[in-house]
Amino acid sequence: MTVLFADVVRSMEIAASLGPERLHQVMTELVSRSVAVVEHYGGTVDKFTGDGIMALFGAPITLENHAFRACLAALELQQVARSLAVEVAHRDGIDLQIRVGLNSGRVITGEVGATHLGYTAVGAHVGMAQRMESVAPPGGVMLSESTARLVEDRVVLGERETVHIKGFATAVPARRLLAADLEHRRKARGDSRLVGRQSEKDAVAELVDRAGRGEGTIVAVTGRPGVGKTRLVRESVATASSRGFEVFVTYCESHTRDVPFHVISRLLRAVFGIVGLAGEEARARVRSQIPEAGAEDLLLLDDLLGICDSGCPDISPDARRRRLVNLINAVSLARPGPAIYIVEDAQWIDSVSESLLSDFAAAVPRMRATLLVVYRPEYSGTLSRLPDAHLFTLAPLSDSHIAELIKGLLGEHPSVRGLSMVIADRAAGVPFAAEEIVRDLAERGELEGDPGACVCVREVRDIHVPASLQAIIGARIDRLSATAKRTLHAAAVIGAQFDTELLGSVLDSTPDSMDVAPLIETALVEQIAFTPHATYAFAHPLIQMVAYESQLKAGRSELHRRVAAVLQRTQGGFTGQQAAVVATQYAAAGDLRDAFDWHMQAATWYGARDIRAARKSWQQALRVADRLPLDEPDRLTMRIAPRARLCGTAFQVGGTPADTGFDELRALTTAAGDKKSLAVGMAGHLTTLTFNAHHQEAAGMASEFATLVESIGDPAMTVGLFYAAAQAKWEAGAASESMRLAQRIIDIADGDPTMGSLVIRSPLANAIAVKGAAGMSLGRPGWRDDLEEGVVLARSVGATTRPFVQLYKYAAATQNGAVLPDAQDVAQAAETLEVAQRSANNTAVAYALLNRATTLIHTDSDERSAGFEFLAKAREIFVDEQLIVALRRMSDIEIARERARSGDLDGAIELATAVIVEQFDTGEMIFRGPATTVLVEALLSRGSTADINDAERAIDRLAAVPTEPGFVLHELPVLRLRALLACAHGDEAGYQQFLERFRAKAQEADFEGYLAQAQAMA
Ligand SMILES: Nc1ncnc2c1ncn2[C@@H]1O[C@H](COP(=O)(O)OP(=O)(O)OP(=O)(O)O)[C@@H](O)[C@H]1O
Ligand SMILES: [Mg+2]
Repeated sequence: MTVLFADVVRSMEIAASLGPERLHQVMTELVSRSVAVVEHYGGTVDKFTGDGIMALFGAPITLENHAFRACLAALELQQVARSLAVEVAHRDGIDLQIRVGLNSGRVITGEVGATHLGYTAVGAHVGMAQRMESVAPPGGVMLSESTARLVEDRVVLGERETVHIKGFATAVPARRLLAADLEHRRKARGDSRLVGRQSEKDAVAELVDRAGRGEGTIVAVTGRPGVGKTRLVRESVATASSRGFEVFVTYCESHTRDVPFHVISRLLRAVFGIVGLAGEEARARVRSQIPEAGAEDLLLLDDLLGICDSGCPDISPDARRRRLVNLINAVSLARPGPAIYIVEDAQWIDSVSESLLSDFAAAVPRMRATLLVVYRPEYSGTLSRLPDAHLFTLAPLSDSHIAELIKGLLGEHPSVRGLSMVIADRAAGVPFAAEEIVRDLAERGELEGDPGACVCVREVRDIHVPASLQAIIGARIDRLSATAKRTLHAAAVIGAQFDTELLGSVLDSTPDSMDVAPLIETALVEQIAFTPHATYAFAHPLIQMVAYESQLKAGRSELHRRVAAVLQRTQGGFTGQQAAVVATQYAAAGDLRDAFDWHMQAATWYGARDIRAARKSWQQALRVADRLPLDEPDRLTMRIAPRARLCGTAFQVGGTPADTGFDELRALTTAAGDKKSLAVGMAGHLTTLTFNAHHQEAAGMASEFATLVESIGDPAMTVGLFYAAAQAKWEAGAASESMRLAQRIIDIADGDPTMGSLVIRSPLANAIAVKGAAGMSLGRPGWRDDLEEGVVLARSVGATTRPFVQLYKYAAATQNGAVLPDAQDVAQAAETLEVAQRSANNTAVAYALLNRATTLIHTDSDERSAGFEFLAKAREIFVDEQLIVALRRMSDIEIARERARSGDLDGAIELATAVIVEQFDTGEMIFRGPATTVLVEALLSRGSTADINDAERAIDRLAAVPTEPGFVLHELPVLRLRALLACAHGDEAGYQQFLERFRAKAQEADFEGYLAQAQAMA
């Protein structure tokens, strides 16, 4: 058995500065995490020493490899202590470190109690372990001679040293434990000694070093399968961990590339050290590492890690993303020690993880960290194009290197010389191929002797070497016993890594009757964890691929079905990722109905968290539904459901009318007589049309849509979807129709602010504001009260609705001279922006920025320039996310006006002209007045005859736009501009006449902005 002793360095000092209460807290945390580690490796905590623990491996329960397990536990204890130290350093300004010592020896039998060992049983061993602990360096692990001997071929040890221990006369030998060894792995697998790649290895190691000095680095490694990417990365970072780097690895798999968040959440589980932990325990561990994180942020993180026990907070997907990225970056930036983050096989990464990791990468240069991304050449996603990345493209090994590698595998017996050449030829510079060929030959008995000292027993020309790597691996798999082969097949269906529990359930057998051992012996698979269940990994992705593809389809489908069923049975609640994995398994099994249901379930889970992820799941569901046999009774319904959701949400991700799939949806829903799904989809399509400035088409469709929704006769649906029609009509200038539709929502909702909150949180608040905006367009009495009421109501219903509803007042009404923002408006827009940044989607943030900008620009405040900064940010989001084109143009109008103000008349005229051209092309009706105003004023200021003529033409053009009776948004600016034009012509009487008409009209319509201008002009 092996005794482990772990103790806090300088515990007295720490106790003194922490105070009893905090000390208790810290020690309890350290001890409970340590106990978990010890138990993880099969050890037992024997006692607590006050400032440390003593644990036993191999007693009272006999344990294979007790010394090795104790070493792994010791290394992980150091890791645990390091992560706790982060928190303690942060909070208490104290450097928390532990020392660990190990010693092995035989237990005197007969003295061992059932659960607790008498001290005498192990006393001598304990003493030595304790001494080892006392001489270990802070943060280090020291092994006694006896332990070192048991593990020396499996771990990395420091030089043998002779240590003097206080109170003991004789010095004793000891060795430092540096790392769990790669070399051991290499030997166990019969891998080859590293050849070549020295310059790459050095270069990567240097980049890692640089990161250690605080200049974060990004490394990308690419090259064909089996060429040595993973090996290079492992070799380059091997020594880093013994120098205090923490290494976190995540990997991507081909079958989970459509499971959003999969890869990032695996990486974060490693970072927070919660692999294998669940619920309460995992949450506690996360919290202890980021004590300063806000409660809401923590819930978001729990949700991402799949350890949430309550509902997720009501925060939009974009805000979640922003906050998670900030949180992840903050956590990584705050790590006191250096770290390496490895993403393996990025060619199979899911898109959500990809984008989160890209955001993370942007912050890496400021961290003491290296981000290492490994991928095959076919990958061209964002992680292959990270700015500042150092790219290593691994070519096949040179002839001499591959010859050297083969020599290492075969040895130098004369009989193998000819064979070496054949192998080198077949391997074509790919080391993995060389290794597999040699393994194949050894298994076939063509080679005899030990690895590295082989003898070839036949003539080379009589030896067949399969041409392809796949064929070689296939042949090796074929030689397995039936049970082993079946085990391997099931494993390949589960994934790159698998544990005995799941494997056992899938194979319907006890773990004992599965045959994993031959898979390990043949180096097809390797063990990567011991507890709680033995966990294995395929030695190489190609092996998994061949094991997967070489199965008969029927058998494989059956395995997929079983995996799906077992996952379905054994998991409690389902996160979106888990549901998506189950769905993928069912889809591979050909169980399309089940696959469909699980994809839809995943989408529902993602819906509130990340609309892009939800859309991925709907797309998968759609594909599955389309593959259903024609006689499947619900085929049509199933084809419709995901399409309706995709069409309904396209505008949320910057979709264009061509992306919504509306025509197909219309055809399918018509065939099925499914009006509801058509209505859901059409609402989204309508909004997409409006957002993309297809105003006339949108207005036309809005009438059809309104009739359709009314014919369904579902009040909540009418309230929830009608906004799309009301909005489309308003923007197309059909103000009274817009008012009518808005009034319909108001009547049905009957005061209930959240009735029908399918797409927008408060259709009622929105409808009241739209009614106000449409009323304003017609100068109808009461519009101001409506706008105000809408804004007030929206205030109480959430961060996303608020800025949207405010747009009508702060952007549209202000720019059109109807509202003059006051100090209270400025404050409200500021507050709304703050709230939006915390929890709303990017779109809402853009709206809030625009509102903030216009309130500042249109108040005579000294914050005008700040206003333009907000405006620039808003505009950037409108462009990046392809949001409402009219609002991008609206920002341009403000910019043009400011250009004129600062004397850049040419620039103002150019920009305003471009805006007006687009407005007339698209049929947009709300902002032509302000755009024409900017243009005409700038032309008049420039003042050439041609300019004055152009100004007149611009006014005439606006005046000639057909409008419905009473529409004042054009009439008012036309009157005002005609007055200015008269002035430019020196026609004082004309000026006074138009000015008076303008003033009277502005008064009648209650446009306070224009009224103020009229007064200024008098
Ligand atoms: N330079 C080298 N010297 C000796 N052995 C090597 C070398 N490069 C790779 N190998 C061995 O070849 C095998 C395949 O290498 P590795 O797994 O790194 O390939 P890879 O490029 O990551 O492939 P994939 O794209 O399939 O993941 C491993 O067993 C590895 O140990
Ligand atoms: Mg690899």
